[in-house]
Amino acid sequence: MDQSSGAWWRNGIFYQVYPRSFQDSNGDGVGDIQGIIRRLPYLESLGVDAVWLSPIFPSPMADFGYDISDYTGIDPLFGSMEDFDALIEAVHGRGLKLILDLVPNHTSDQHPWFAESRASRDNGKRDWYLWRDAKEDGGAPNNWLSEFGGSAWQRDDATGQYYYHAFLKEQPDLNWRNPDVRKAIYDVMRFWLRKGVDGFRVDVIWHLIKDAEFRDNPPNPHYVEGRPPHEKILTQYSTDQDEVHEVIAEMRAVIDEFPDRVLIGEVYLPLQRLVAYYGNDLGGAHLPFNFALLSTLWSARSIEKIIHDYEAVLPAGAWPNWVLGNHDRPRVAGRVGREQAPVAAMLLLTLRGTPTLYYGDEIGMHQVPIAPEQVQDPFEKNVPGIGVGRDGCRTPMQWDASDNAGFSTARPWLPLASDSAQENVVNLEADSKSILSLYKALIALRKKMPALVTGAYEPVSAQGDLLLYRRRDDEASLTIALNLAAEPVSVTSSSIGFRKEILLSTYLDRTGESIEGVLDLRGNEGVIIG
Ligand code: GLC
Repeated sequence: MDQSSGAWWRNGIFYQVYPRSFQDSNGDGVGDIQGIIRRLPYLESLGVDAVWLSPIFPSPMADFGYDISDYTGIDPLFGSMEDFDALIEAVHGRGLKLILDLVPNHTSDQHPWFAESRASRDNGKRDWYLWRDAKEDGGAPNNWLSEFGGSAWQRDDATGQYYYHAFLKEQPDLNWRNPDVRKAIYDVMRFWLRKGVDGFRVDVIWHLIKDAEFRDNPPNPHYVEGRPPHEKILTQYSTDQDEVHEVIAEMRAVIDEFPDRVLIGEVYLPLQRLVAYYGNDLGGAHLPFNFALLSTLWSARSIEKIIHDYEAVLPAGAWPNWVLGNHDRPRVAGRVGREQAPVAAMLLLTLRGTPTLYYGDEIGMHQVPIAPEQVQDPFEKNVPGIGVGRDGCRTPMQWDASDNAGFSTARPWLPLASDSAQENVVNLEADSKSILSLYKALIALRKKMPALVTGAYEPVSAQGDLLLYRRRDDEASLTIALNLAAEPVSVTSSSIGFRKEILLSTYLDRTGESIEGVLDLRGNEGVIIG
């Protein structure tokens, strides 16, 4: 089975919206569905093809929507089902696609399923979650840790047993070995697919199945002091179990009941293990998210190695993808620095594979400092002081120079960046040399030159801070030269080919310049040559 070559999710660009922070329409300081509808013209003008929304379902918001209490509703904070129906119509009306977040690993502890499950040991839904007896000493059933701090087991007084939660205690894990759980979630998928949703991004998909015997996890010999405490043990028995691929194949079969839908998986694993999530005969996730760029050292040689390693392990017929930012990781402009952010943009949009943009990265939003009394993120609250807080990458979108940056008429739920009066969509759209103009130019060039989308990737050897590669198809051979440092560098024409022309520079000032002999790159400059 090959992954259909003309599929929209292969050729298109994804854009992640964090709904709380995109656009508020009702003056409560939190973004909502009508706000997203209002900003669709912006997304269309940016040139992206698909919009992925972080969860908008009813939720007590212990983890800001990743704790769902009703899988087939809309949280009133975000609007109503009528608003959602209007959104999907508006998205499709503009020729865009809509992707929802599916959170099947756990529910909220307020979900009616969990209320039943915890009621008694013989409740019909008892086995929908993971209940275990205490150890003989009364302690937790094993040594598994919650990603958000502390033991992953919570004792429940009603029945004296413990339940497992990989994240907050308000997010009990479902038992994916139970066929009724599977059926219930597959029906949830069908509910949204019937409404016309174009696919799902599946939350923590590599967590779904746990060791049947709940064996203790081994200690992590490479734990680095100062990192989050859950990294002290490996997740050998609590994640990435072989049987998970059977579940994903079933999810994929549900997706395939409907024409032209996509299955994306959130997977934080080394590349070698990650690619297993394409599934046997590629009947798994179409796009297991490749997060390698989120944690790499920002240097030419380490990025070159990541691209090489990824291309090398991709199974035949698997389509690659790349991510620079999301709602869980520090902003790219903060990680690589303001000067390198344009180079990162050129990298993302010229690599082989579907790119996913994170809202605000296209205007260079940086990691916003959050004062202790403003912290919202439960991860930061549970594990304070080591900088794992996720609020700084979730601050309101900066639309214009008006109050609250045009995001809301009320005080936003998280503070705005202090430079929002300058760094906003209106100002950057008016500036032909801005990072937003660069994103638009890169996306437009990608649409014009199929070699950038479906062409082969060919590394070109380079030294030091220079990253060089080619994208080639029958029509064109493009060279991408990225200077990852602040010092200028020169490239001889033997590496780029003779008599070429600059199609785009990250400084947006050299288009049309012909290159004969030597290409000189300024500090922090990237160019596409063709
Ligand atoms: C995923 C989400 C993250 C959430 C966690 C638990 O990693 O991206 O935001 O906290 O799952 O649902």
